[in-house]
Amino acid sequence: MSNTFYITTPIYYVNDVPHIGHAYTTIAADVLARYWRLRGRDVFFLTGLDEHGQKVQQAAAKAGIDPQAHCDRLAPQFEQLWNRLNISNDAFIRTTEPRHKGVVQRYLQELFNKQLIYKDTYTGWYCTFDERFWTEKDVTDGLCPDCKRPLERLSESNYFFKMGQYQERLIEHIKTHKNFIRPPSRRNEVLGFLQTQKLGDLSISRPKSRLSWGIELPFDKDYVTYVWFDALVNYVSALEYKTPQPSLDRYWPASVHLVGKDILTTHAVYWSTILMALNLPLPETIFAHGWWTVNGEKMSKSRGNVVDPNAVVDEFGEFGVDAFRYFLMREVPFGQDGDFSREALIGRVNSDLADGLGNLVSRTLTMIERFTQGRIPPPSDAAESDLDAQLTQSTGELMAFVMDHIEQLRFNRALETMWELIQRCDQYIDKTAPWTLAKKSEDNARLHAVLHRVVKALELLIPLLYPIMPQTAESMASQLGLSPQIYGRRMVLQGLVPGREIAKGKPLFPRIDHRKTQGDSHVTDSSSPTETLQPSSATTQITLEEFQKVHLKTAKVLSAERVPRSEKLIKLQVDLGGEQRQVVAGIGKKYTPEELIGRTVVLVANLKPAKLMGVESQGMVLAAGDADVLEVLILQRDVPPGTKVK
Ligand code: MSP
Repeated sequence: MSNTFYITTPIYYVNDVPHIGHAYTTIAADVLARYWRLRGRDVFFLTGLDEHGQKVQQAAAKAGIDPQAHCDRLAPQFEQLWNRLNISNDAFIRTTEPRHKGVVQRYLQELFNKQLIYKDTYTGWYCTFDERFWTEKDVTDGLCPDCKRPLERLSESNYFFKMGQYQERLIEHIKTHKNFIRPPSRRNEVLGFLQTQKLGDLSISRPKSRLSWGIELPFDKDYVTYVWFDALVNYVSALEYKTPQPSLDRYWPASVHLVGKDILTTHAVYWSTILMALNLPLPETIFAHGWWTVNGEKMSKSRGNVVDPNAVVDEFGEFGVDAFRYFLMREVPFGQDGDFSREALIGRVNSDLADGLGNLVSRTLTMIERFTQGRIPPPSDAAESDLDAQLTQSTGELMAFVMDHIEQLRFNRALETMWELIQRCDQYIDKTAPWTLAKKSEDNARLHAVLHRVVKALELLIPLLYPIMPQTAESMASQLGLSPQIYGRRMVLQGLVPGREIAKGKPLFPRIDHRKTQGDSHVTDSSSPTETLQPSSATTQITLEEFQKVHLKTAKVLSAERVPRSEKLIKLQVDLGGEQRQVVAGIGKKYTPEELIGRTVVLVANLKPAKLMGVESQGMVLAAGDADVLEVLILQRDVPPGTKVK
């Protein structure tokens, strides 16, 4: 395997206000870049801005300024956001940079000389308002699909790239390189389209009379190049002037182009065929991720629900950046669509970050403070118990899984697996009960060994947490006395030295109060979340904290219907207070759907979604009874949906 790792994000339209979609790709790219740097690879991580085209020209005209000045005014908002989100990109490219333009022109000339670009007249449906052509299949009744104004039949001369001639070669490449387009569902989509439709040639110019804000064609001054040709070339032009030479040899082909699902075709088809024509190798992987909705709705300016990452981070204060990064990587499998909501984010902060990770670190630190004078205890030479061996073994195994998950871009699985280790550490502490060992002076060696082992497990966890939550990992390492050092965007731990002082600080994550309205400070207080040092002695009992992991909430039944071919299952749509959920409940023998509608029930709201007879259930309705349901818990008087039950 080559020792370099070249990762890119799309270059974002400079005109856009940076939003959660941009942040999503950029954070995912950052995770991979940080991870591979830690694994010793020579990483180059590129992001940047797409600054040409109609929209920029129009916006600049509207603002009454020169398009370049307009771009210069807008560009910093992206750079500032990436700084704020701790993005470790090695370079930032803007397509209006003269050296980028030079490379685009050189490539255009090369293709022109090879007669892979030709001039032709295109006749199509043109919308004067939107200033764009539509293809026959987009148009019904001669109206613009976008603005619904009447279209004109227009002829225009343009330059075309002979994309169509690469169709078979591209199909073959996709078939023989199973990781070229990922995830597999997207690969099948692209293959399906290429195998059933004839690939046409690509218009790569626009007459200046219609659009002047672009890179001039080197062989015809009356035209500028099509914005996608210009934009895609950024992935190689950056290697000519943003990195030390010889960087095209060093970093090309890219290891991963991360893109959203909407721009997969431009990458998988346009870019691949352009590269073929230029005799350059194709990237190893183009990975298309899913889209975020917001509270179940499409995100758009017109709906006014665009999520500004700055606002999210502002709201959650110093913990905001890592909470946001964690949420985006944890909430949905990379490649699938997901939904963003404040409630879901707060839920994850409380259950996973404050109660899970934060509590483990803080109880470990407290025990070291109390039982070993605030110093890392020594390991023991004594034979390991089964419990010890289990923890050591599962730490090793789990961390190997985490690495594989990150390498395969399964970020949510990587985090799930890390949280499994957190849980195992908690169980190990509960079972070995250091507080009992501390009471018996003859058990000192055992006490030390136990606490040492927990810190050891955390020491292994920290570097894997670092790519996703760099600040948290650093703070954890400092508090545990592991002396983290940052070397050129890589964190190195000095390691576990018995006798070294720990430095217990503020909790990693505070619990956040759900009920406060947006705009308030949501951080309950900066003191420690209820730290659970010691679980109850009886194994069948659980701690309050464990109980609190179960989120019980009232839910109002909006509609109910039987699941086809099942006498037991009823599918409910419930209102959980601003959030609608679908729940499948095995209560059909006792209840009819009609008698449930309008009732307020109690729901386990943070249960992992599951499918019952193929129908997704996002929670569980509480009911009395065991195998057979006797009675569903229905509230006698209405309370607002989404109210906590405890
Ligand atoms: N400029 C082009 C890319 C050129 S790359 C050579 C572009 N820019 S964009 O700013 O419109 O979009 C950039 C990325 O944001 C795309 O990958 C797109 O999928 C992503 N997203 C836009 N809205 C999104 C969501 N709601 N959710 C997730 N990603 C989304 O396209």
